Amino acid sequence: MKTEIGIDKIGFATPEFYLDLADLAAARQVDPAKYRIGIGQDEMAVLPADQDVVTLAAAAADQILTASERATIDLIIFATESGVDQSKAAALYVQRLLGLNTAARALELKEACYGATAGLQLAYDHLLAHPDSQRVLVLGADEARYGLGTAGEVTQGAGAIALLVTRQPRILVLEQPTAYHSEDVMDFWRPNYRREALADGKFSTEQYLRFLKLTWADYQQKTQRHLNDLTAVIFHIPFTKLGLKGLRQLTASAPNDLQTRLLTHFQQATILNRRVGNLYTGSLYLSLYSLLLFAELPAGARIGLYSYGSGAVAEFFSGRLVPGYAAQLPPAPEVSAVLDQRQRLSVADYETMFAQQLTTDGSTAATPSQSVNAPFRLSGISAHQRRYQKNGGQNQ
Ligand code: COA
Repeated sequence: MKTEIGIDKIGFATPEFYLDLADLAAARQVDPAKYRIGIGQDEMAVLPADQDVVTLAAAAADQILTASERATIDLIIFATESGVDQSKAAALYVQRLLGLNTAARALELKEACYGATAGLQLAYDHLLAHPDSQRVLVLGADEARYGLGTAGEVTQGAGAIALLVTRQPRILVLEQPTAYHSEDVMDFWRPNYRREALADGKFSTEQYLRFLKLTWADYQQKTQRHLNDLTAVIFHIPFTKLGLKGLRQLTASAPNDLQTRLLTHFQQATILNRRVGNLYTGSLYLSLYSLLLFAELPAGARIGLYSYGSGAVAEFFSGRLVPGYAAQLPPAPEVSAVLDQRQRLSVADYETMFAQQLTTDGSTAATPSQSVNAPFRLSGISAHQRRYQKNGGQNQ
């Protein structure tokens, strides 16, 4: 049997608090249609002080991993641009919280919203190069923060994606070759002294579209495939309007029926993103999850994926859906219900939660008990160490 490598399982976690963007529009005296249509977002997740990228990623992976999978993962890649330590990889906290194999490499990766794609491609290479390796865990977790009252505020969000990458995967077989491009571009960055990103939003939009043009042309040239060979195309989604601009660019000269098919699948692929906001590096994979939950796609369908990380690196690649892939995923209503059950914050409560932060002078502090449903909590800091616990349990 031909060795195929790809995504075997997908897990997703997001905070249990959200802001309705109609409320934000009223508070910022903006027409709500600007947010809903102009930006293409309806709600955004808000991260409480007792959650961080570690607890989110642990929650996303915990829901998909069996005991035997935990025991045999030999590479844990944690992609984030919201790291909790300048030195230690967040992957190690997750390894301990979930009881993952210790005969494993564990590391953290960063390149803005491209990080999880870098992790996925490295996972592919690892499985290809090591016939004894069985599975790799790729985590992508972030909190997107631009700041109160900024233009980017409406494009915030938080959450994590966990991808289990294996041979003979049961969801998506990754295809080679892929097309990638990188350049030193200052469209979005976050200096070490800031909690909020600095972004030139308009310039970033231009770069996202320019890199899409370059990588799409390269992908077509390398694979001899064209738009019609793709059943759906999904995008990195910092806000859904940007993905829509990307789709319009790709389909500008496509026949009407092809445009309609790709637009329908784009809308299915952004149902969850509209409600969660920007996950930074997890956003493309939240879009994949959304597509797989809300669309009925034939086995073998080829999906094009456009990954973009400011700074900037982009990659256009594709994968083929495995027969029976839906059995690997929860029913869509179950995932929607998790979002429906989140607590809606007033703008005042969102602003308070947004401003909360852990001590930065090394003093001991406990976090407020805010998360009720999350399986893991950041309980505080002592002796300069972050303390995590299973919700309702002891510090670990
Ligand atoms: N009804 C419907 N649409 C409206 C509207 C209304 N009442 N008012 C404005 N709009 C539309 C605008 O026409 C515009 O659409 P377009 O992009 O198709 O031209 C869109 O809403 C945005 O409005 P605009 O005033 O141009 O932008 P802004 O100054 O509010 O900034 C972003 C928007 C996205 C640039 C800003 O939120 C941002 O910087 N976000 C961070 C994004 C980022 O950098 N991410 C990293 C990239 S990967």
